[in-house]
Amino acid sequence: MASTRIAPTPLALRIRARVTAWLGPLAVFVKGFVQHPTMVGALAPSSGRTIRRVLAPVDWDACRVFVEYGPGVGTFCRPVLDRLRRDARLIVIDTNPLFIAYLQATIRDPRFSAVLGSAADVAQIIAAHGADHADYVLSGLPFSTLPPGVGPAIMAATRDVLRQGGAFLVYQYTTCARQMMAGYFGRIDKGFEPVNLPPCVISWGWKD
Ligand SMILES: C[S@@+](CC[C@H](N)C(=O)[O-])C[C@H]1O[C@@H](n2cnc3c(N)ncnc32)[C@H](O)[C@@H]1O
Repeated sequence: MASTRIAPTPLALRIRARVTAWLGPLAVFVKGFVQHPTMVGALAPSSGRTIRRVLAPVDWDACRVFVEYGPGVGTFCRPVLDRLRRDARLIVIDTNPLFIAYLQATIRDPRFSAVLGSAADVAQIIAAHGADHADYVLSGLPFSTLPPGVGPAIMAATRDVLRQGGAFLVYQYTTCARQMMAGYFGRIDKGFEPVNLPPCVISWGWKD
């Protein structure tokens, strides 16, 4: 017999978000991974060393709009907000409603917006927040396990939305994203962070 899923009410979503806030980020991350392993594509949140290394080339004085794809439980969100100008914005986009509800419940900052959606729709999403470009885009997306066609669509949308001189900051556990980036970004700086689970490949694609 076919089963029908009933959409949760706003009250149920609020209660769920409160409960997940009590559970803590690691438990929420594990739950998200169990529900959607190929979309999450990671065993644990990024390490502090990965965060510092990925963000190192950002010119924070010149950044008004910072976008993050796949924030998960927000491992990068606090460090980005700590560095971000008071008049700048951080817009994060994730396809997992559990993560978005968790971020909305736990990060209270007027510069912060957490949006349920796909990175491929970045232009429409930032336009809905009054922005016509991004200065930097950060990605923790598992490009090697995304559905066919989604990776290239995200690469093209990101290149189009970045301002001249902006950069696409990408960390992943394989070189898949870096290979894909080569078709969209003329200059790619390369890095590697061993202290991460698993160690990760870092790429900075510049829109020169
Ligand atoms: C590796 S996890 C993120 C880890 C996290 N940023 C960290 O540093 O710990 C990948 C995330 O990408 C999200 N995701 C997968 N496909 C997506 C898409 N098309 N658009 C936006 N987010 C997506 C998943 O829901 C998951 O939260």
